[in-house]
Order: sequence, then C-alpha cells, then structure tokens
Amino acid sequence: MKALLLAGGLGTRLRPLTENIPKPMAPIANRPWLEHLIVHLRDQGVNEFVIAAHHCSDVIRRYFENGKRWNVKITYALEPYPLGTAGAIKNAERWLNERFLVFNADIVHLPELIPLLDFHRQHGGLATIVLTEVDDPSSYGVVEQDDCGRILRFVEKPRCEEAPSNRINAGMYIFEPDVMRYIPAEREVSIERETFPLLIEKNVGVYGIVSNGYWRDMGTPARYRQVHWDALSREFPIPLKGREIQSGVFVGENVEIGAGVLFVPPVLIGDHVKIGPQAVIGPNAVIGDRCQIGARVHCAQTIVWDRSVIRDRSRLQNSIFGYRTVTPAGEVFEDSIINQFKEAVQA
Ligand code: GTP
Repeated sequence: MKALLLAGGLGTRLRPLTENIPKPMAPIANRPWLEHLIVHLRDQGVNEFVIAAHHCSDVIRRYFENGKRWNVKITYALEPYPLGTAGAIKNAERWLNERFLVFNADIVHLPELIPLLDFHRQHGGLATIVLTEVDDPSSYGVVEQDDCGRILRFVEKPRCEEAPSNRINAGMYIFEPDVMRYIPAEREVSIERETFPLLIEKNVGVYGIVSNGYWRDMGTPARYRQVHWDALSREFPIPLKGREIQSGVFVGENVEIGAGVLFVPPVLIGDHVKIGPQAVIGPNAVIGDRCQIGARVHCAQTIVWDRSVIRDRSRLQNSIFGYRTVTPAGEVFEDSIINQFKEAVQA
C-alpha cells in the first residue's frame, strides 16, 4: 500500500518555528511528527511513501533519504511552487497508479487503517474522506451525509445551530487513481475548495467515515503545545521515550541531573541532557536531546527542541524554543516562540 504525505505547506501560523523546517517536521515528544506518522503507517502495512514537498524540502530529504533506515521506500514529489493540497496529489500522479492513501502530514492522529480501507472497498466510491467529530464545528468545513455515508456537501464554518453534523474532514483520504482525472495539472488546486466539490457534483462516490481516537491539527502554537500536554497526560497515547523515574516524569538516556532538581510532572526529558542544580522542571515541560538547562532555571508549560542551552536562572513559561536556541542567563520568557538556528535538521 502506498501513502502520499502532504508536507509542502508554508506553515505560516507556526512561524518562526517553521521558517527553516516544514511544519510536519516539528518534533512531537522529541521526534519529528512525520517520523511518528511514517512509523505508525509502516506498522500497519504501508511500505511505500511519496512525500509531496516544497518549503524546506531538503530538511525532509536529508532526514529520511530513501527511507531504508525505517524499512520503507520513500520518494519525493517536489513542487516548483506550492501546488495546493490537490495540485500536490496531481504532481505525484506518476507514482500513484493504484489505490492510495493521502495524509495532511500536519494532522496529529494515529488512525487504524484496516476499518477505513474496508469501508472504502465496501462502498466502492472514488474517494473516502476520513472524518473526525469535534465539539464545536463552527470553524471547520462540516459534512452532510446520507444514511449510507455518502457525502452530500460541505458546509464551511457554519454557526453551531446550523451545522448539519459535528463531523469534519480529518485530513486523510483513500483514493482510486481515477481521481486524478478531476484534478487539473500544473496549477495550484485546493482539495477542499475545488476537488471535493467537483467530485460530489460529478457523483463519482465520495464517502465519509469517522475515525475515532485522538485527532488534532498542530498548526498553531497553542495547538502544537496542547498536543504535547495531551501526550504527557497520555490522552494522546504516543510512545514516550525514556524511563519513568517518578510518576509522570520520563527521562532519556545519559541524563545528568544536578542536586536539588525538582520535577513537577508531567515532564519528558530527551537523551544526553544536563540539568543544573535546583532547577524546577514542569509541570508540562518537554526538553529535547542534548539540551543544557542551567542552575535554578524554572521551566513550565514549555517545549525546548534539541541542542538548546538555557542558561542559569532563566524563567520559561508557556514558550517554545526551536533547535539550538541559546538564552542569556536570568532571562524571562513568557508566551515566547524563539527560533535562532537556521540550518537543517539531521536524523
Ligand atoms: P499555514 O500556512 O499555517 O496555513 O499552514 P500550511 O499551509 O502548511 O498547512 P495547511 O494546514 O494549510 O495544509 C495542510 C497540509 O497540507 C499540511 O501538511 C501542509 O504541509 C500540506 N500542504 C498545504 N499546501 C500544500 C502545497 O501546496 N503542497 C504540498 N505538497 N503540501 C501542502
């Protein structure tokens, strides 16, 4: 089975973190989200991936290369300019000549594929859109379906009382290759705005099925942070690397913990991290691999990416620090998003 991963957006809402990486490469629990996704899909039988990329595509290519390290085959469909969510699929047409999966690679979920594929097969449409149910659908495209699950229309951002359902596009699709006939080549095409309405109008069979389980779009700093807190609370059951040295405190290999360090759970610490004396880490703190945290640092509701140096007595609250950030001693960061390091990320 092949999957096309859409990873070519600019990730503007997550800037400056996405200035030099594609959004799906942002780490979740100290590992790029794209890697979690590929591993999850591989473990369910997907062995070939096409990554549709544009913005900072080199970061993805250098990290995954041909996928051999993950025991999968990865090819890259690069776009000369962002072709949009459907244009990117058309651009990868030469690799997609049998039934295939498509993922918005910035959506954090770990769907179970077999029931979704069974549904697609049984309904026999050209497209199955995986749906998720949300409490407040008013900021999404909401689907209206018939009793068989056929999608009749999308209602964009309805008022809550006017929403036909609470089901929204989860950013995962199962397509037959014939879907390509409905996507124009060599121009930007949006799957939500153009392709789905066209497929519905042509009555080629567009069905929707709900995938239960954790689902979140990581596209804004608040949502990106929330995915982490959900991972730490285990509401999102993603594997956390490390030993649980006290309830809710996961610590990687080769971590030096100074005298009097206080962990306030939940906390996740990567490998080869140094934490200075009397630092207070947590609640809700994720520290990446090879970071150095100075003495008496207070770090809560904060995510620090790999190889960062947070000097003594700094206060970090509700912030995100990109790769290799170095902060001066005694600095206070509240609601900050810092990206100082502008080079590519290596696996
Ligand atoms: P914002 O700029 O913050 O809206 O983010 P985005 O455009 O990167 O993401 P959006 O949520 O709009 O897109 C959903 C998914 O599709 C993400 O994984 C994007 O990387 C991907 N995507 C969006 N536009 C393109 C595109 O033109 N080409 C490709 N290959 N992928 C795209």
